[in-house]
Amino acid sequence: MKFFIDTAEIEEIKSLSRLGLIDGVTTNPSLIYKSGKDFKTVIKEISDIVKGPISAEVTSTLADEMISQGIDLAKISNNIVVKVPLTKDGLIACKELSLKNIKVNVTLCFSSAQALLAGKLGATYISPFIGRLDDIGTPGLNLIKEIVDIYHIFKDDIKTQVLAASIRSPLQVSQVAMMGAHVATIPPKIITQMIKHP
Ligand code: G3P
Repeated sequence: MKFFIDTAEIEEIKSLSRLGLIDGVTTNPSLIYKSGKDFKTVIKEISDIVKGPISAEVTSTLADEMISQGIDLAKISNNIVVKVPLTKDGLIACKELSLKNIKVNVTLCFSSAQALLAGKLGATYISPFIGRLDDIGTPGLNLIKEIVDIYHIFKDDIKTQVLAASIRSPLQVSQVAMMGAHVATIPPKIITQMIKHP
């Protein structure tokens, strides 16, 4: 399973990169806002440190604007993955960007039916939000299992990787690994917790 780090903090990324465990990075507008830096500057800085996939999210809710933002983001570096929300417009953007050979991470996935749509449209990654589902009393881990199973059944047609997101504990990292998630995006604090054992 690949480990992505879910942060836009350059120092954290540098420090964890030394461990050699970080295969990629996911960001979102809130994480970049917290870093206090300009959006494109942060993405460029991250892509200079980590050579694996770097997810950079569009901010528009309209398909055409998402597509042009995505094309623009993809020009920052050749390891950029454009993140779009799982909405009707986001799915249109997913299809169009994927057809242009731009990698897409479809985020904010809360059901396996949604994941099926993203898979059919050529998403590179689907990001089910397990912590947010747990927050509303729905077991997020079940969703990871459902999506992994469905994608496996259609493995000849669907090449989308399951990127478990909204992870809140080291235990959840092990659990998504047991369920066959291809990637877990993990907040830096959780990676540090994974190292320690009392
Ligand atoms: O990877 C998605 C993440 O940034 C959201 O996590 O913990 O705020 O639900 P969380």
